[in-house]
Amino acid sequence: MNSQSASAFNRSAIVAPLLALLYPFFLQGFNETIGTFLSKGLYANPVSWIFAVFFLASALAVPLVAFAFAVKFSKIAKPTDDDRRAKGIALLAVATPPIFTFIGVLFYMAGVSMFDKWLVTFFWLALIGSLVWPRKKAVIRCQNPVSPKPIAAHGISALFIIIFFLLLHISNHLFGLTGPAAQMAVMKTLRIFYRSTNIEPILVVFFLFQIASGIYLIQKNIDRPGDSFRTFQIASGVYLVFFLMSHMNAVFIFARTFMGIDSDWNFATGAPTGLLKDPWNIRLVPLYLFAVFFALMHSLSGMRFALLKQGFSKTILNRLVVIGSIFSAGIAILISLGMCGWHV
Ligand code: HEM
Repeated sequence: MNSQSASAFNRSAIVAPLLALLYPFFLQGFNETIGTFLSKGLYANPVSWIFAVFFLASALAVPLVAFAFAVKFSKIAKPTDDDRRAKGIALLAVATPPIFTFIGVLFYMAGVSMFDKWLVTFFWLALIGSLVWPRKKAVIRCQNPVSPKPIAAHGISALFIIIFFLLLHISNHLFGLTGPAAQMAVMKTLRIFYRSTNIEPILVVFFLFQIASGIYLIQKNIDRPGDSFRTFQIASGVYLVFFLMSHMNAVFIFARTFMGIDSDWNFATGAPTGLLKDPWNIRLVPLYLFAVFFALMHSLSGMRFALLKQGFSKTILNRLVVIGSIFSAGIAILISLGMCGWHV
């Protein structure tokens, strides 16, 4: 595109924020239709099945479609300001589930829970407005190379988190499939380690560093064109930044400080009502599903970049990422089923 030409409004840029705007309403639709089965029986109203599947699929599609648009805008070789904005907003829309949950918890604590949906609606409307607002000139952004040092620090800290916490934490949640008692028994054992007075502060510092260095890397990379792998690395990073802010606020501030309750499995699964029946808790289903998937895949795809630099075969590494994504999706689905009350 000519850097001096008048900026033409790219209609496809509004798809991701529009879907993000509709996300709370898709969840509401799913909660209301699934509520019919749970109260009246699975075969009470077969037509509701179609609606339930439609609403759930639409909610889950929001981060995925947003990612597809982020890839599309990332592939533009010489991005203009408009392309950059469209890409940034699509990346933000990938993080729709944690953004909605984070705002939901903050509004709950402020006692204005009923307005969370409307704040996010306004937020996405404002971003759509920023995309359609006519601008005179489109300017090509300069490239923004990143020095390897922050990437290495981000990777080393991630390795520490994965080995000493994340793998244990995710394996712990898999026990939810055998029932809450087993999950809690394993959590109590793991807590002796990760909630000890020596380990927990170190872990929190590492997570805060991960968020800060992640934001730095996203900001440095956002202007650069890139392939699907690079865009996935940034998009999953954006999701994890918002997820970690939301999750740590929920655990440390909301549960342990504000409510004065144990941040255990009952808390995470919204017991006694559960995740599916409650109109507020329903947002936790996509939140956790994508959190597990993105946490595993962000790490794996980060390793792919590191190994590529070491001269490993691109074909083999790409195959590993595909296998890894099927495996990660399987783990994420199993944990989510366990959290929704499905037990083996
Ligand atoms: C299904 C997904 C997840 C669920 C249900 C979940 C749930 C929980 C619960 C219940 C706690 C409190 C633990 C306790 O009190 O001992 C917790 C803590 C925490 N989670 Fe998660 N989590 C999930 C995924 C993740 C992921 C993907 C990350 C990181 C990327 C993460 C990071 C953390 C951190 C940093 C803490 C605080 C640990 C501490 O107490 O020191 N969680 N989570």
